Amino acid sequence: MKVLLTGGAGYIGSHTAVALIEAGFEPVLLDNFANSHPVVLDRLARITGQTMPFEQGDVLDTPWVEDVLRRHRPVGVIHFAGDKAVGESVALPLKYFHNNIGGAVSLLRAMEAVHAQDPSTAPTLVFSSSATVYGDPATVPITEDFPRSHTNPYGHSKLVIEDMLTALCAARPAWRVGTLRYFNPVGAHPSGLIGEDPAGIPNNLMPYVAQVAVGQREHLNVYGNDYPTPDGTGVRDYIHVQDLAAGHVAAIQALLSRGESFTVNLGTGSGHSVLDVVRAFEKASGRPVPYRIAPRRAGDVAQCWADPARASRLLGWQAKLTLDQMCADAWRWQSANPNGYKG
Ligand code: NAD
Ligand code: UFG
Repeated sequence: MKVLLTGGAGYIGSHTAVALIEAGFEPVLLDNFANSHPVVLDRLARITGQTMPFEQGDVLDTPWVEDVLRRHRPVGVIHFAGDKAVGESVALPLKYFHNNIGGAVSLLRAMEAVHAQDPSTAPTLVFSSSATVYGDPATVPITEDFPRSHTNPYGHSKLVIEDMLTALCAARPAWRVGTLRYFNPVGAHPSGLIGEDPAGIPNNLMPYVAQVAVGQREHLNVYGNDYPTPDGTGVRDYIHVQDLAAGHVAAIQALLSRGESFTVNLGTGSGHSVLDVVRAFEKASGRPVPYRIAPRRAGDVAQCWADPARASRLLGWQAKLTLDQMCADAWRWQSANPNGYKG
């Protein structure tokens, strides 16, 4: 059974492709390499022992996406493709509205056109949403019925796409959509062959810490130590990308077997502070991670972690891997590939 992964060469897509193969699916990857590298395809072949079908192109190109869907006839689509840098989205809002919202519209229209010609299978989609749709939550842990808001164009684009999917499912009962709100994905495949390869200076904590440990950056800036949290630094729900990948397999299986749409949090249900991450990474790498306390970063919230009970109930999925394992795998990837896929 084929599953199409838009953005399949990216960080989460590549790990999900491996998990899908292990679960007996045939992933078909689609990507324009805007934020990924063709080398990932060789790495995936080394991990899985097979060459995955790959389609290079832009999800904004609706007729081409239709053609891809007609040729491969996937049982479902996982839509990862999009831009994800919060700071860049503030500077370049139209880029985010165009690629994220425009990309989703394009994919959905292509799926709808193919379904109209062949109504024998229900259009089935898993969408990569984000805990960013909860804005600054009033309390933690966060359940799926918390109010949604946005603080930047990236988050706004995810909110609009979620609303679009709700409207589509209301208008077209045949559609089956699983919306996955990821918390903070980190770590890498245990082989060290695939991992997160941010372009330029990393915005996110774990890749930044990894670059400090490997000696590429002098020190970490800890953005604020005066938050109302146990050690004053920001607290997040870090989730191993391998657990996240397993969540996608569970989501596609649930959509195919039960046929009901859902929205679920994918998180561990517990939070770690910035200084917890620093200490865990030092332990995993055996290297020091020097840091300085810096001012708060605009737009950051004090704490954010998931109530993952709904995912457990609906998908039978739970995160299993610890912060120590996240750091150990991130370090194996970073130390074996100090320059990412660029070699
Ligand atoms: P990523 O940048 O590594 O992967 C996205 C992939 O999509 C890249 O390979 C990129 O080349 C491709 N792409 C972008 N625009 C495209 C287009 N128009 N046509 C074809 N391909 C295109 O990002 P990721 O971390 O793997 O994230 C995947 C999804 O999960 C994104 O939608 C992101 O917003 C969402 N998400 C990520 C995080 C996170 O922290 N990594 C958190 C919450 C949600
Ligand atoms: N942090 C630092 N120094 C850094 C980078 C981050 O102290 O150099 C701190 C932040 O202030 C925050 C924590 O580390 O307290 C985590 O920051 P990240 O940038 O790694 O993650 P965010 O929680 O800010 O955001 C990430 C993604 C969003 C996504 C969100 C979902 O970037 O796209 O997780 O919870 F929406």
